[in-house]
Amino acid sequence: MNLHWASLLLLLTISRANCRNLLLAQVISRHGDRAPDVTYPNDEYIAKDWPRGYSELTNEGMQETYRLGQFYRKRYVDSTFLAPEYNKDEIYTRSTDVPRALTSAQSILFGLYPATGEDVWMNGTSWQPLPVHGFMPASDDLLLKPTSVNCPAKVAAWTTLTKDLFEQYDIEYADFFEYIANVTGMRPMNMNKISHIYDAVSCERNHNMTHAWAEAQWKNSTKTVFDTIVELKQVFRISQFSQPPLYNFTGGYLLFDFVDRMQKKAANISTVPQKMIIYSSHDGTVTALMYAMGVGNGQLTPYASAVMLELYQNDQNGFEVGVFFRNDSYAEQPMELQIPGCGGNICTLEAFSSSLQSVMYRTRSDYNRDCGLPEEETTPSFFVSTTSDGSTQKAAQTADDQNRVPDYIAWILGGLCLILLFALILALCCCCRIQKKHRHNNRS
Ligand SMILES: *[C@@H]1O[C@H](CO)[C@@H](O)[C@H](O)[C@H]1NC(C)=O
Ligand SMILES: *[C@@H]1O[C@H](CO)[C@@H](O)[C@H](O)[C@H]1NC(C)=O
Ligand SMILES: *[C@@H]1O[C@H](CO)[C@@H](O)[C@H](O)[C@H]1NC(C)=O
Ligand SMILES: *[C@@H]1O[C@H](CO)[C@@H](O)[C@H](O)[C@H]1NC(C)=O
Ligand SMILES: *[C@@H]1O[C@H](CO)[C@@H](O)[C@H](O)[C@H]1NC(C)=O
Ligand SMILES: *[C@@H]1O[C@H](CO)[C@@H](O)[C@H](O)[C@H]1NC(C)=O
Ligand SMILES: *[C@@H]1O[C@H](CO)[C@@H](O)[C@H](O)[C@H]1NC(C)=O
Repeated sequence: MNLHWASLLLLLTISRANCRNLLLAQVISRHGDRAPDVTYPNDEYIAKDWPRGYSELTNEGMQETYRLGQFYRKRYVDSTFLAPEYNKDEIYTRSTDVPRALTSAQSILFGLYPATGEDVWMNGTSWQPLPVHGFMPASDDLLLKPTSVNCPAKVAAWTTLTKDLFEQYDIEYADFFEYIANVTGMRPMNMNKISHIYDAVSCERNHNMTHAWAEAQWKNSTKTVFDTIVELKQVFRISQFSQPPLYNFTGGYLLFDFVDRMQKKAANISTVPQKMIIYSSHDGTVTALMYAMGVGNGQLTPYASAVMLELYQNDQNGFEVGVFFRNDSYAEQPMELQIPGCGGNICTLEAFSSSLQSVMYRTRSDYNRDCGLPEEETTPSFFVSTTSDGSTQKAAQTADDQNRVPDYIAWILGGLCLILLFALILALCCCCRIQKKHRHNNRS
């Protein structure tokens, strides 16, 4: 009997989830594994160890982002949210204008839309060319590469927030930095320079190009030299996003882009694309977004990891937001993140956007003003992104006004839920019967 109640409860949960209808998926990922940006004087590995050149995506990076695309296909095509073939009205892909992000986007699209049937355009390959937009120099791409955009107020705030901390580290790790300077030939070495060494050594290490000095224990500590470099790099990198106003400046504009599109969708204002946005970017962009949403985890953002924002319409005609993080390119299931301002499992669009209101930048001119730059828009605004004339405010307003869907739709949805529930109960009963019969047969 207990088992029956448990299964009924399970069924109710399942049918509830089933009646939450996905309306819009917005995803952003870091590029895959890459070659180092830089090297250092005593580096034993040289440019020709990186066939595609410094800073470029490697074969491993292509495989990771390809798997990410396959994951999107499973999640969004197999569930019939997206059509099985590429449809220009459903999906829009944008990358920073940085080669490793552009090539990552292409690998994602290959995983998501392998050519089949009529789309096969050349014998022997299921790859098809698909559009990836990348129209802004990285140094001006506030949406997808905010870490490269000039903002004097951000730098000033960061310097103030980290001055004492970094001075403390420089003293505490003086011996360590001196050792790193000795082995790498790069000096002076300190908190501000450790990223440089981390970049080269970690990229090389991922490709089995190891250094005896980096793998050795650091003095009498329990850590290796490399692990200590990682620890310092982590402190340095996270310090750029972990506090206001740093995450406002780096994550606020992208967050608004996502929220604005969800509000338009909820208000039934037609958006292009209709169903999915894919952004291909960098660790700083993904980390900044997570901190802006209050879900930063203190970790370096792995290659090809992705943050996914999904908008659903539930069976009460309300709109809900799901936030997911896939931090490993082999993961079958992403982890669901709990947005603090939502206070619970179900995050309504309203709670989501109102709790994050103060973090968001609606316009480039607001951002410029707060950064201490001339306010005029320096770049054209993104096509579905907001105009700078306040029309977004109106959109948000209409979203609230139109949160109600006609009653008959609610009835239809409710009916469908009930039918589904009965079908599931029936299936379960059948299962039990078969099992009983099985047991019976076994005994006889
Ligand atoms: C692919 O190969 C088939 C069989 O060899 C041939 O009939 C067809 O024309 C080829 N298609 C293209 C696009 O090259
Ligand atoms: C760095 O090299 C100098 C000169 O060879 C040496 O005196 C010093 O002990 C080394 N420091 C560390 C921490 O290895
Ligand atoms: C590094 O070595 C491991 C173990 O031999 C291997 O599985 C991996 O593919 C290698 N990685 C690269 C990038 O060559
Ligand atoms: C590590 O060694 C130094 C001297 O080289 C000593 O002062 C320190 O207490 C040691 N630390 C630990 C944790 O053993
Ligand atoms: C949304 O708009 C479309 C046409 O633009 C209309 O067909 C549909 O009924 C509307 N849906 C709701 C829930 O208002
Ligand atoms: C990835 O997420 C898992 C939880 O799903 C966590 O245990 C792990 O530490 C994370 N790894 C990284 C590198 O963030
Ligand atoms: C940054 O976001 C926080 C919310 O976390 C907010 O309190 C603060 O006012 C924002 N700062 C700026 C400069 O917008």
